[in-house]
Amino acid sequence: MVNVQKFIETAIQEIKEKAGDEKVVIALSGGVDSSVCAELAARAIGDRLIPIYIDTGLMRKNETEQISGLFSHIGLKTVDAADEFFEALKGVIDPEEKRKVIGEKFIRLFEREAKLTGAKYLLQGTIYPDVIESQGGIKSHHNVGGMPLDIEFEDVIEPLVDLYKDEVRDVAGGLDLPTEIRHRMPFPGPGLAVRCLGEVTPEKIAIVREANAIAEEELVEKHNPWQCFAALIGLGTGVKGDVRLHGWIIAVRAVHSRDAMTAEPLELPWDTLHKIAARITSEIPEVARVVYDVTPKPPATIEYE
Ligand code: XMP
Repeated sequence: MVNVQKFIETAIQEIKEKAGDEKVVIALSGGVDSSVCAELAARAIGDRLIPIYIDTGLMRKNETEQISGLFSHIGLKTVDAADEFFEALKGVIDPEEKRKVIGEKFIRLFEREAKLTGAKYLLQGTIYPDVIESQGGIKSHHNVGGMPLDIEFEDVIEPLVDLYKDEVRDVAGGLDLPTEIRHRMPFPGPGLAVRCLGEVTPEKIAIVREANAIAEEELVEKHNPWQCFAALIGLGTGVKGDVRLHGWIIAVRAVHSRDAMTAEPLELPWDTLHKIAARITSEIPEVARVVYDVTPKPPATIEYE
C-alpha cells in the first residue's frame, strides 16, 4: 500500500519538474485513473493543464454529459469525434487492430489539440497492470501498446505507473475527489468497441450501450460488483410473436476482483438474472438472447476482446 499523502506530494513535485513552464494536455476519460492525474496536475501547474475529453461515440449512456458536468470547473474541453472513430473502425474485426486504431486516433486528436494550445507534454493515467499486461503480450492497452511510435509530444508523463487500481482509489480519497469518481467502475479506454465483437458500427454500439445501461442499473447498487457490463457477442436465432428471427446475443458479466489480474464471477440470484434478460430483450427489440458469463479470469479475461 502506498503512503497516500507522500505519494501526492511527490507526484505533484514530479509533474512540476517535468512540465517546467510548458503546457500539458491530459486525456480525461472520467475514470478514476485519469481523474486522479488531472487533479494532481491541476494542483501542480494550475491552468497550464489542458484537460480534454474525447467523445469517441463509444462511451456509456449519458457518460459524456456527466463527465462534462463534473469537470467543468477545471476547464474541460469536449471534442466530438464520434464520426471519425466510426469511420476509422470500418471493416476492423481483429481485437488488437481495434485497440491500435482507437489508440492511434486518440493520440492524433490529442496532438491536434496540443498544437492548438501549444502544449508540449501528454499526461496519462497508465497504471501498473496496464504496463505488465502489455509487456506480457496479453493485449495492448490503448494507452500503452497502441501508442504510435512517431508521437509528436516532447514526452509523456505517467504519474500512476507504479500503482494498482485500489491504490489509485486511495489517492483519489486523499485528493477529496467526489465518490462517484472514486468508486467509478473501471471502463476500458477503447470503450464499448471491445464489448462489441466483430465490426464496430453505430447501430451495434447503440444496442450494447442500452444493454450495458440495463445491466448496470440492475447490478451496481444491489450487488456491488467490482465491474459489470453487457457485451454484444454475436447473432443468433430467436422468436418474437410467431416469427423466427435473427437477433443479437448479449452477454452479461459481473465480477469481483482486487486488481483486475484475476476475477471471479458473481453468484447472482435467478430473479436478478431473469429480470435482466427480460428487460434487455423487451426494451431492445434487436436482441434475441441474453447469457450470463460464469467464467473466472483466468482463463477468460474480464472484457470480451
Ligand atoms: P481484461 O479484459 O484484460 O481487463 O481482463 C482487465 C481490466 O482492464 C480493463 N481493460 C482496459 N482498460 N484499456 C483500458 O484502459 C484497454 O484496452 C482495456 N482492456 C481491458 C477492463 O475493463 C478490466 O477492468
